[in-house]
Amino acid sequence: MNERLSWQRCDDCGRELDELDPAPRCPSCSGLLAVLHRAPALRGTALQADFADACCARPSPSASGVWRFGEVVLPTAVEVAVSHPEGNTPLLSRRRLSEWAGVESLQLKHEGHNPTGSFKDRGMTVGVTQAKRIGARAVACASTGNTAASLASYAAHAGLPALVFIPKGQVALGKLTQTLAYGAKTLVVESDFDGCLRLAQAAADELGIYLLNSINPFRLEGQKTIVLELLQQCGWEPPEWIVLPAGNLGNTAAFGKALDEAMAWGLIARRPRIAAVQAVGAAPFAAAFDRGFDRLETVQAETIATAIKIGAPASYGRAVRAIRNSDGCVLSVTDNQILEAKATIDRAGVGCEPASAASLAGVKALWARGVIREGERVVAILTGHILKDPGILQQMHQADEGGAAWTNRPIPIQPTIAAVRRVLDATIG
Ligand SMILES: Cc1ncc(COP(=O)(O)O)c(C=O)c1O
Ligand SMILES: [Zn+2]
Repeated sequence: MNERLSWQRCDDCGRELDELDPAPRCPSCSGLLAVLHRAPALRGTALQADFADACCARPSPSASGVWRFGEVVLPTAVEVAVSHPEGNTPLLSRRRLSEWAGVESLQLKHEGHNPTGSFKDRGMTVGVTQAKRIGARAVACASTGNTAASLASYAAHAGLPALVFIPKGQVALGKLTQTLAYGAKTLVVESDFDGCLRLAQAAADELGIYLLNSINPFRLEGQKTIVLELLQQCGWEPPEWIVLPAGNLGNTAAFGKALDEAMAWGLIARRPRIAAVQAVGAAPFAAAFDRGFDRLETVQAETIATAIKIGAPASYGRAVRAIRNSDGCVLSVTDNQILEAKATIDRAGVGCEPASAASLAGVKALWARGVIREGERVVAILTGHILKDPGILQQMHQADEGGAAWTNRPIPIQPTIAAVRRVLDATIG
């Protein structure tokens, strides 16, 4: 055991399991498992330099924005990774968005640039690689859509059968289309996401399928690289804030672990604060934060941002630690604030899916409340691509009828130059 590079450990009782143990939870106490690693041989600037070399000097899978951090993700799996590749997403700044949110130094890390259009690919490349390594006969997940699309794609790449559980009528069209097209068996459940997750967990236990929801610790190892990559893009000078949308809280948990490790391994000297943003109708984490994290009270979730329509977040305990350790905060924003932020992001030519826009809405709210202060640097995560949820257009038009004037509508015309001139004149004044 002395030579081991990585292993699993229960969050609650500390029991340790081999890296290749397929148990979905701790066999002793059912606690969540985490993947731990031996400290890397290099530290601080030497480790930073090693990550920089991995970008260009080594062959694929180092082309991946996940596996080039392989030494701190899953060192023993780098050579056998099921990778598209993924990651290497841009850090954008747009004057218009800074002005709208009020924050001068605002950057957006656009995870919609991943191969299936969301940050889930970073976790899924590691999760599906692990499924292959342990000889899983099939993989499964419950999903609000993006996890399903990502699992379906990586399972197809790996040649593994995939089963996804999605809530009936609550998954955006782009995500459903992808999942079906990539070939996953798509089970449409008469329930919400939380019910789908319970069913997927029970089915995985009974039927011996490898579950790849975000309680799977290998998923979180991949999702850590959002933070590692953005820190690298910032020259390892951390921003004051990292702001992300939050649903099941897997990503918040992964961000907390990434920052713990980045501090421990000397990659950064100061820890950025994490702000997690929920939708008002699906905000059990924000409510718990307001009560000093006394306990989690689950809710019946309701929001137009279907990706974060989750009332019983599975990674609550870890996410609490992530917020506490970073002196962070949790807030909620209304659906209208989300739609307005999305329209603003879209109009800047960047575009994202509704849940992603919660992060920018959150930045604006935190600035207005004086929580984000003058001169502080903020990186907001855009978690998914604009094409994920084309149906949202209709809801934006409805909101627009209330006088918001955010949306752009199709203009029916006759096939004449005169009709085109009328539109042009009205546009350029
Ligand atoms: C686009 C998008 N944003 C945010 C989230 C929330 O992430 P988490 O469930 O890890 O909190 C999800 C989860 O499905 C998502 O698909
Ligand atoms: Zn345990």
